[in-house]
Amino acid sequence: MEREYLDEIYRWCKNACMHNDASSDLQNLMKKIEYMQNVRNIDQIQLKEIYEEASRIYHFNKLNERIEIGEHSLPSLPYPYNALEPVISKKIMELHHDKHHKSYVDGLNKAEKELQKARNSNDYSLIKHWERELAFHGSGHYLHTLFWYTMSPNGGGKPQGKLLAEIVKGFGSFENFKRHFSEAAKNVEGVGWALLVWSARAHRLGILQAEKHQNLTQWDTVPLLVLDVWEHAYYLQYENDRSKYIQEWWKIVNWDYVEKRFEKAMQLKWKAY
Ligand SMILES: [Fe+2]
Repeated sequence: MEREYLDEIYRWCKNACMHNDASSDLQNLMKKIEYMQNVRNIDQIQLKEIYEEASRIYHFNKLNERIEIGEHSLPSLPYPYNALEPVISKKIMELHHDKHHKSYVDGLNKAEKELQKARNSNDYSLIKHWERELAFHGSGHYLHTLFWYTMSPNGGGKPQGKLLAEIVKGFGSFENFKRHFSEAAKNVEGVGWALLVWSARAHRLGILQAEKHQNLTQWDTVPLLVLDVWEHAYYLQYENDRSKYIQEWWKIVNWDYVEKRFEKAMQLKWKAY
């Protein structure tokens, strides 16, 4: 199990080197792994250090990478398929990652390309379909990527430091937070997710449910420009002519503010897949 795990991390390092990421941190880590691959008894503390070093490099390297249209890829798991046993079986991890997550990646790429075609040909007859596909597969891809990284064979226990302090501030205690989060997860209607989120507006943590995850949103993105098309926003003046309202609305967009949000949002960087 430990050897399999080391081999997996080593393969990832080699792969990262091939993608022009041969940083000295990565090379030092590979040397440590090579050394451990040759010792008879693997030291658990050193193994944990390797895991932590690999995940640090993994998360913070190549943050400026841009994913072009239709070029998302399936991230490899940051641990072997059986690493989360007995809590989650190897079989579930294989199916969940290799089949389900993969199909979200493929679907997202397809939807992005179809929307690009629509823009190029100015044919928006299938826009509702492809926007739905974009929301469904895009949220699936982003949330699953997050899901894999929010679990670890060395996980469990309680958060520390600032996060713990913020949880206590927001929910009263860690136990209260855990109960609320678990109830939210248990009571998601049908399929979906429970999410711990940071509200950049309210400056506090919150717990949300996402029913399914495709209700025309794409989780893990930051809104920059929004247009209210609820009837209350235009009916008194434009009645049922929503297109006229949209056409006129462009005259009053505050691009300076959108630009400011864009600059702020650009500061938030996750590794690209
Ligand atoms: Fe899933």
